[in-house]
Amino acid sequence: MQEKIKVLLSEVEEFKAESKEQLEEFRIKLLGSKGKIKDLFADFKNVPNEEKKEVGQLINNLKVKTQAKFDEFKSSLAGEDSSLALDLDLSRTATPVELGSRHPISIVRNEIIDIFSRIGFTVSEGPEIEDDWHNFSALNFPPEHPARDMQDTFFVESEEGDIALRTHTSSVQVRIMENTKPPIRTLSPGRVYRNEAISARAHCFFHQVEGLYIAESVSFADLKQTLMYFAKEMFGEETKIRLRPSYFPFTEPSAEMDVSCSVCNSKGCNVCKYTGYLEIMGCGMVDPNVLENCGINSKKYTGFAFGMGVERIAMLKYKINDLRLFSENDVRFLEQFKSAF
Ligand code: PHE
Repeated sequence: MQEKIKVLLSEVEEFKAESKEQLEEFRIKLLGSKGKIKDLFADFKNVPNEEKKEVGQLINNLKVKTQAKFDEFKSSLAGEDSSLALDLDLSRTATPVELGSRHPISIVRNEIIDIFSRIGFTVSEGPEIEDDWHNFSALNFPPEHPARDMQDTFFVESEEGDIALRTHTSSVQVRIMENTKPPIRTLSPGRVYRNEAISARAHCFFHQVEGLYIAESVSFADLKQTLMYFAKEMFGEETKIRLRPSYFPFTEPSAEMDVSCSVCNSKGCNVCKYTGYLEIMGCGMVDPNVLENCGINSKKYTGFAFGMGVERIAMLKYKINDLRLFSENDVRFLEQFKSAF
């Protein structure tokens, strides 16, 4: 019997549980109600009296060691479980969520809207797919005007006549003039399309914010003052503006507005091509024909309009040298504007 106990003891001492299942087997085999230790106690009555003391101690020792071994692995396996449980936070999202940032075009568009809304301009929107009337005819484009040419305009095949992707948001202003009694003071931000080869400086679509102000006795001086206010708010108090005569079918007189180059303080650099000024928008007094086309009495009302490309303003503001970056969705480019809120 002593021999049997010794064998079991060394078995217990060498035992290592690698899993809960192994440990449970070990427990059943030795400590269970039909286990080896129970058997030993059952056989104990057959041990001769003079050996009872020694054998009793051996069995007890085996039982204590077995229990200790079991307890040891029980807690170490449970420990593994609990450290596993700590690593696994089931309430966490599968992958870290990166916060996005507003697109630079949205940031600049919102800033333009904010500046003009402080002097009473509202925001109007309209369709990107337009008819000839709203995009061209009402705006005094003669039928043979080159801007209607396939080169500049994306036409949409339609049985309803000439439908095109709008080439400017002046089309929205026509819709407003047709439906609103002056005074009108509104901005039309939105995406426009032109059939141009894509390069660092041109794209087949871009964004505009155009403005329209119609009331009694609106003058060119009002236009100039409004644009000067805008330029200073957008580019800084020191900014100077310059108006150069230009031509648009829907305004008379028409002008292009330049702002002093903030990169070189008008001293001349490669951004302003050594002129000290940067062109940022077209503007002018709304042609009386346009007012009449839209049902507004041109004897009573006058107005001014202006229109700028949001990409161009964003490029100047953030010193971006390639227009294509705005529509390539490269996160490395976009995440630079996180702090621009
Ligand atoms: N609609 C013109 C364009 O798309 C911009 C403009 C608007 C010019 C209003 C003058 C007045 O280029």
